[in-house]
Amino acid sequence: MSASPAPVEKQGERVEKLSGVDAVVLVGGQGTRLRPLTLSAPKPMLPTAGVPFLTHLLSRIRAAGITHVVLGTSYKASVFEEYFGDGSRLGLELEYVVEDTPLGTGGGIRNAASRLRAEHIMVFNGDILSGVDLGAVAHSHLDNDADVTLHLVKVADPRAFGCVPTDADGRVLAFLEKTENPPADQINAGCYVFKRSVLEEIPADRPVSVERETFPGLLERGARLQGHVDTSYWLDLGTPAAFVKGSADLVRGLAPSDALPGPTGEAIVLDGALVREGAKLVNGSTIGAGAQVGPGATVDGSVVFDGAVIGANAVVTGSVIGANARIGDGAVLRGAVIGDGAVVGARCELLEGLRLWPGASLADGSVRFSHDA
Ligand code: GDD
Ligand code: MG
Repeated sequence: MSASPAPVEKQGERVEKLSGVDAVVLVGGQGTRLRPLTLSAPKPMLPTAGVPFLTHLLSRIRAAGITHVVLGTSYKASVFEEYFGDGSRLGLELEYVVEDTPLGTGGGIRNAASRLRAEHIMVFNGDILSGVDLGAVAHSHLDNDADVTLHLVKVADPRAFGCVPTDADGRVLAFLEKTENPPADQINAGCYVFKRSVLEEIPADRPVSVERETFPGLLERGARLQGHVDTSYWLDLGTPAAFVKGSADLVRGLAPSDALPGPTGEAIVLDGALVREGAKLVNGSTIGAGAQVGPGATVDGSVVFDGAVIGANAVVTGSVIGANARIGDGAVLRGAVIGDGAVVGARCELLEGLRLWPGASLADGSVRFSHDA
């Protein structure tokens, strides 16, 4: 750090502006598509490249110059405060608001209003891994004097997202949440900047969807909604396939993070993990603290939670292995999700998409898929 004032340049301006911005992070969802992993931990707390996913997002927020962050919690609310405390470890001032019954995305944002101090509020969905320049999003917002600015990205299949067409000036024309025939490939990336007065218009104390109610309502009354389109890394970690991809991309340094516990490469092996001779860890795998990987086993693009055991010569590809789960010798898993403490017997072969619930047990050789079909 230099003792003299920083020269006035773009990045400096951005950081200066963001220091007057508060953040709200929505983390109250149930993470249904990531069950059974989310039975024991809320989605943003699942370990991703060795740390709870939310650590990556909070570190990016801090790196952009924002220090005051309110977490909008509901499902398993206490877990967040137990881990992050007052946020000082990350250089943040963290506050928590709790919805006893979930208020939806809009209600969750509104529920944070009493804690906000700044005139502009950056809101984040808590399950997004993104390389967007947050300063640039804030810039768009201020330069256009927008009521709300939305970070937008283009995706191949927009049906699972909010479709957000814009005009030539970037002004939002419509907000169409999860429609079968979206008119554009441009979607809501789950990061907004709100003028505080507009945020405070959201009804308090009842469930509100920001996507289905607030944004369409604002457009109807002629409010200025601005799109900020960007092409950097972007992924919603809401499904098992996206979760393993996001974690692997972090481990390999393909996805941006200011919070990785180790250098990027083929794998991250956390403290106390034991990797036996001849085991191969490839494609951005993470081996959790105290986990074991047996001799000759291959862990490929997978996330192995703390204390799990992978047997000798097992092959685990694109899968998530829950805490203290056990995978038997010679088992083959592809695209599987194994709950905490579950047991996959020796030589079992589990196909794409199979989910085993916590504590469940498959006997040795009891599940196979046919190679000669
Ligand atoms: N506090 C609170 N209360 N948070 C909630 C609630 C709630 O009732 N419901 C959901 N959330 C949080 C989730 O924890 C998550 O971080 C975020 O809001 C978005 O919820 P998801 O369940 O992940 O929504 P989605 O992925 O189907 O769709 C959303 O994200 C897409 C981008 O990934 C929408 O915003 C889409 O428009 C968007 O395209
Ligand atoms: Mg999501």
